[in-house]
Amino acid sequence: MSQKEIVLSGIRATGNLHLGNYFGALSKFVRMQDDYDSMFFIADLHALTTSTDPDKLHANVKNIIAEYLAAGIDPEKATIFVQSDVPEISEMYLLLNMHVGIGELMRTASFKDKARKQLGIKSDRDDIENEIIGNDSNKRVSAGLLTYPTLMAVDILIQKANKVPVGKDQEQHLELTRRFARRFNSFYGVDLFPEPQNFDFGGAPVKVPGLDGSGKMGKSEGNCLYLIDDEKTLRKKVMRAVTDEGPKEPNQPVSQPVENLFTLLELTSAPEIVTQYRNAYADCSIRYGDLKKQLAEDILKITLPIRERILDLQGDEATIARIVKQGAEKARERAAKTLAEVRHIMGIRRFV
Ligand code: TRP
Repeated sequence: MSQKEIVLSGIRATGNLHLGNYFGALSKFVRMQDDYDSMFFIADLHALTTSTDPDKLHANVKNIIAEYLAAGIDPEKATIFVQSDVPEISEMYLLLNMHVGIGELMRTASFKDKARKQLGIKSDRDDIENEIIGNDSNKRVSAGLLTYPTLMAVDILIQKANKVPVGKDQEQHLELTRRFARRFNSFYGVDLFPEPQNFDFGGAPVKVPGLDGSGKMGKSEGNCLYLIDDEKTLRKKVMRAVTDEGPKEPNQPVSQPVENLFTLLELTSAPEIVTQYRNAYADCSIRYGDLKKQLAEDILKITLPIRERILDLQGDEATIARIVKQGAEKARERAAKTLAEVRHIMGIRRFV
């Protein structure tokens, strides 16, 4: 057994990966794979909580595997697997649910958000519980959505992961995972699960903004640059990014939409180039068209090679199948061991 700490993270199979996923997750995974015992998976069971098109789901799983590999995750270093290929996760999900309160699940922010969306409730009223209980026909909020955090905790605990690199939006889920781990350990008087910690490389967390002048890049915001975007599409999106009328006086404060473009430039361009455009803004000589052209150029330098590898891999199902089979074997071996411990601890024991 290796002595390295176990790192685990996953991405839901709900669509193509974008630049936010790249800087927020993938590039970190790539940096971690040398130093940690790394496991990166595709959360297809979690995708079922919000999407229900079977063919799309399978295509999305395949895309994300291709995107993981294309971005530089190396199957010789890291374990890459599909969540549903590890049936032990589903069994432990049932077992752990016995120790999870419906109250704490209902209070989870992500649940409230998604439930509200599914029911078409605009307000952020706190009595959403009543709305949910009152709606059991067309607008159903599934038990699967409610128990999303249990499933995520199991992903982590079944591998006894120490470090879980996730974004801010997943902090609460990670906090719940720690709580469930402590609860299980103390209820049964065991020391089975380590408490997983978030991980980043120090420094401020990267927030990758969208192109619409608002907040972060996100699938549901429709403001994404995808790794799979072709050259023309990507250029067009960047050239259409929201800006303002430009600085009227020297050293004017930068508006949010323009600051977003600078942030993207900082992530993708050389420091001299960023300084050049910052200075041009400060002395009012900036032309946003030039800034955007530069930005598109530098983004394409990162994404185009990845895009090519994605396309190659998408046409090579045999390679994908081989990699996830190998990954599933390793993930199952660990999962089966933990599940056997959990079953025994909880009193689910076989006659021999
Ligand atoms: N909930 C995560 C997200 O939406 C995906 C996920 C599922 C995950 N299981 C996980 C992340 C386990 C880290 C560890 O981004």
